[in-house]
Amino acid sequence: MTLPAGIETTWLPVALSRQVQMKPLKRRVAGEAIVLWRSKDGIRALRDRCPHRNYPLSAGRVENGKLTCPYHGWRFDGDGRCVEVPGCTLDTHSRLKAETIAVAELDGAVFVRLQGGADDGWIGTLPPMPDTPDFDHFWWAMRPETARVFDALDNVLDPFHTNFIHDGIIRVKHRRQRVEQTIRTHERSFEVTYVQDTDHGWMSRALEGPRAQSRGHYYPPVAFQGRWEGPKALTLCVTIWFVPEDEHAIRPVARFSTPKSKGPAWLKEAMIRLFLFQVIGQDADALKRLHDNIAAFGGPRFSAGPGDRLGDKLMTLYQGGRLVPGEFGPFTMDL
Ligand code: FES
Ligand SMILES: [Fe+2]
Repeated sequence: MTLPAGIETTWLPVALSRQVQMKPLKRRVAGEAIVLWRSKDGIRALRDRCPHRNYPLSAGRVENGKLTCPYHGWRFDGDGRCVEVPGCTLDTHSRLKAETIAVAELDGAVFVRLQGGADDGWIGTLPPMPDTPDFDHFWWAMRPETARVFDALDNVLDPFHTNFIHDGIIRVKHRRQRVEQTIRTHERSFEVTYVQDTDHGWMSRALEGPRAQSRGHYYPPVAFQGRWEGPKALTLCVTIWFVPEDEHAIRPVARFSTPKSKGPAWLKEAMIRLFLFQVIGQDADALKRLHDNIAAFGGPRFSAGPGDRLGDKLMTLYQGGRLVPGEFGPFTMDL
């Protein structure tokens, strides 16, 4: 299996609200092409395929909130109903319906769900994010990258690559510190805590101040949340969805939350973007190499090293299985 279990029924962020305008926006999500546009009733989404002859609707135009297919000019409203067939009298709409996709907005980001329809309780299905007025937030919709979604999750949960791939920025290859790792498993997720001082890399030093611990939480199928905590309070929370376009590409979307006390929101956003830009590029490069090499060898092969305590849990949840709740550790490691 390359795409995770349950991806079709999960709410996934696919764009920023400001990216969805009158002009149709095409996205690929878990192998399905969809088209989004904004009407006066809000954002609409359809499968990007005209029910008439399969033409991509995303190549069409929006007028008065209705999307026109370029091939024969059929027009569809936001509920997918065909409201006009040029040259003909339209008596029955029902057979001619385009397929709708459930779409919802949260605080500047657009989420879709391929199967299961709209759902008033959808926000409750997202990873819990710090949402009190004491926090500033911003979204970051990243470019698509060649990567397998499993490898992206494995990478973000894996502390050992940071000393190498991000040497000097996050951690340092030849200057490690003793870290205590504790793992907590729940039936449908797990979290890992690292008790340690601030990392030695310059980005950690510049952005963070003293650290008490950091935590990573996997929320299947494709979300990860990292929390960095100082002695008194949360310094930074990042929730990132590795949204698969298909088995070969991901389009990550992240939400960053920082406490309001730490300076102006625009400055924090600018600093985080500036510093993380290089880190994201380093991971993207590594993930592409993994993807291409796995393809060249005809499939992945993993072995668990002495520090790899998360891979089996990740794989179980990724494939739709459950974990036995428990606590493991603390384990010591040098990072
Ligand atoms: S294919 Fe879309 S109108 Fe004919
Ligand atoms: Fe990384």
